[in-house]
Amino acid sequence: MKKILFAASEANPFIKTGGLADVVGALPKYLDSGKFDVRIILPKYLCISEEARQKMSHVTEIYADMPRGKEYIGIDRMKVEGVTYYFIDNEHYFAGDNPYNEIFEDVNKFAFYSRAVLVSLPKLKFRPDIIHCHDWQAALIPVFLKEFYGEDTYYQKVKTVLTIHNQKFQGRWRIDDIENCRDLPADCRYRAMEAYHETNFLKAGILYADRVTTVSETYAQEIQTPAGGEGLDGVLREAAGKLSGIVNGIDNQEYDSMTDPLIPVSFGVKNIAAKKKNKKALQREMGLRQDESAMLIGIVSRLTEQKGFELVNCIMEEMLNTMNVQVVILGEGEERYQNSFRYFSSKYTDRVCATIGYSEERAHKIYGAADVFLMPSQFEPCGLSQLISMRYGTVPIVRETGGLKDTVEAYNEIWQTGTGFSFANYDAGEMLMIIRYAYDVFVNHPKEWRMMMKRCMKADHSWQCSASKYEKMYLDLS
Ligand code: ADP
Ligand code: GLC
Repeated sequence: MKKILFAASEANPFIKTGGLADVVGALPKYLDSGKFDVRIILPKYLCISEEARQKMSHVTEIYADMPRGKEYIGIDRMKVEGVTYYFIDNEHYFAGDNPYNEIFEDVNKFAFYSRAVLVSLPKLKFRPDIIHCHDWQAALIPVFLKEFYGEDTYYQKVKTVLTIHNQKFQGRWRIDDIENCRDLPADCRYRAMEAYHETNFLKAGILYADRVTTVSETYAQEIQTPAGGEGLDGVLREAAGKLSGIVNGIDNQEYDSMTDPLIPVSFGVKNIAAKKKNKKALQREMGLRQDESAMLIGIVSRLTEQKGFELVNCIMEEMLNTMNVQVVILGEGEERYQNSFRYFSSKYTDRVCATIGYSEERAHKIYGAADVFLMPSQFEPCGLSQLISMRYGTVPIVRETGGLKDTVEAYNEIWQTGTGFSFANYDAGEMLMIIRYAYDVFVNHPKEWRMMMKRCMKADHSWQCSASKYEKMYLDLS
């Protein structure tokens, strides 16, 4: 039995700001439990729901020597759907309404977390063969492991994998201001961990981890280029021998149009027409015109530049004035996008509705009701929203980048193949053209549209296939 410990800053069902939580929460359930004992270790944020916190049981506590002096590390534990979760408790670091705060606080917080994970291992009675670290927040684990525990027999055989979910976020800050890294050797701090005169957690993780993966094959290539590498493309090219792309899946149990309790009416490939009732219900709930013939476009997203909202803002007026479309947006993030969507919904009250905020329930309702899901990302490591939408027969319109390119097959009207619409360049005109094309198929070729909805729903984007790739990597490594 191989023991794997996932270290991450988010995981469903405890704490989620984006797709990372979906992946960390779902993947362990899909790894062969006869061969792998997979557990997860998270920070015990104060913003984890009180209900969940009440269910955790206290394992032990440690007072560890750290650069600030003796630091408290509490360890809690809880089992969810057969998977064991551990939580690192320290109210100084993990306070606040959000898992993430200002970057200068976060670098110290996650350096502490990474150290605490390693300090905790002997107390967990679970010595992992592999620590699977996710994103920059856990990227220093391989560094502390080698620098502090390289000679320690308990830790010597532990291997590390680093998965990059988003190359843009690297954990960068002034070298001398990160207290919890201060006792690393100078050579490590000023060379391996340094990029562009700052500490760079992701760079350090890439150098120190035994394997590096990212969440789609195309993104694995893109991050090795100056355009996609966010300044670390050279480091990634150097690491190419240990780098691979494994595309994300989704949790088919959580996202199932036949059983989803959050959507008003269940439907499947065989009674796809029932989906219309969800559209009607959503139009009613959001105050949109009750119009079955309007093409309902859904957006569920973090509202950041990455997701292509510059393009959406550019074409909203023209799109609304030339086509019978409606737009439902659910998201939170940058003020400029929140404001522009507020503006459009106040101008087109019965055709655009923006919910600024986070709501699992509303997200499911949009996936279950919309005709089209718009995701024109500037870059997209994998993207789960397009996979979820396909599962509900909501046809994605995406830009051909990263995982969007790998998971959405462009519609071919001659062969009647494809699971969505895509465009290549980050260009508003090009995007509008493809929306018009989708609109034409939706309005004038309803039979073809229905066939595409069915292909979307039948496409297999479950974790099964990708989980077996992770399994192979774990076996090769240990
Ligand atoms: P990213 O991780 O870059 O945000 P993904 O497409 O991988 O993008 O994953 C986003 C996940 O977060 C999906 O499960 C999506 O439904 C969910 N999500 C994003 N914004 C919201 C929101 N405002 N409310 C509810 N769920 C959201
Ligand atoms: C990141 C990426 C997204 C990916 C998710 C899970 O947040 O932006 O593309 O799907 O991580 O891997």
